Amino acid sequence: MAVVPPRPARVEDAYAIARVHVESWRTTYPGLVPDQFLAGMRVDEYAERWRRMLTGHAAGHVTFVVEEAERIVGFASGGREREDRSRRGELYAIYLLREAQGRGHGRALVRAVAGALRAQGLTSLIVWVLRDNLPARAFYEHLGGAYAGERPLDFGAGFTLVEVSYTWPDTGRLLDAGETRPDP
Ligand SMILES: CC(C)(COP(=O)(O)OP(=O)(O)OC[C@H]1O[C@@H](n2cnc3c(N)ncnc32)[C@H](O)[C@@H]1OP(=O)(O)O)[C@@H](O)C(=O)NCCC(=O)NCCS
Repeated sequence: MAVVPPRPARVEDAYAIARVHVESWRTTYPGLVPDQFLAGMRVDEYAERWRRMLTGHAAGHVTFVVEEAERIVGFASGGREREDRSRRGELYAIYLLREAQGRGHGRALVRAVAGALRAQGLTSLIVWVLRDNLPARAFYEHLGGAYAGERPLDFGAGFTLVEVSYTWPDTGRLLDAGETRPDP
């Protein structure tokens, strides 16, 4: 199947993004995130959150989706770094349905977000990932991310997990490696 480049998300994509969000968490995080939390995720609640986010997109916040056969199978979002908003861009989230993984969408989504943030002058990038999400860590390492430390993350739902970060001090290299740069 031809891989269609990511496109910016629209408000009307909120439900489809939420569906991918919840489904991808449920296939990615068993054993990492408590089963009760995963079972309690509701697509309609996430859809409402995404609708709010996409409607009132905070300045500089970007979201891209990828489609197969005109159905959204993945998304990524980013913006200014949450912890220190002046310094660099952050990849906030990236999730694909399991059946759409391994086909280049992940790399294309990271590049789309990095390119859009670079257009805002944010030329370096950070991402936080659960320490025990080893495939995602290997993906970021493959894309040239450098391990940059760890921290506990309180989910606010009665449990705390450890996250690790990866950084790209200059996203130019990430964007120049291979494919065409997506439109910001
Ligand atoms: C992690 C994720 C976004 C990667 O996207 P993807 O579409 O599967 O990855 P791609 O096909 O774009 O892979 C891009 C490159 O990374 C490599 N790669 C991907 N996963 C890898 C892994 N686990 N180990 C080593 N390399 C990996 C691919 O081989 C490919 O290399 P190449 O272009 O040099 O051939 C996707 O698998 C996913 O959504 N996983 C579940 C959710 C998740 O963990 N999200 C991250 C939360 S922080």
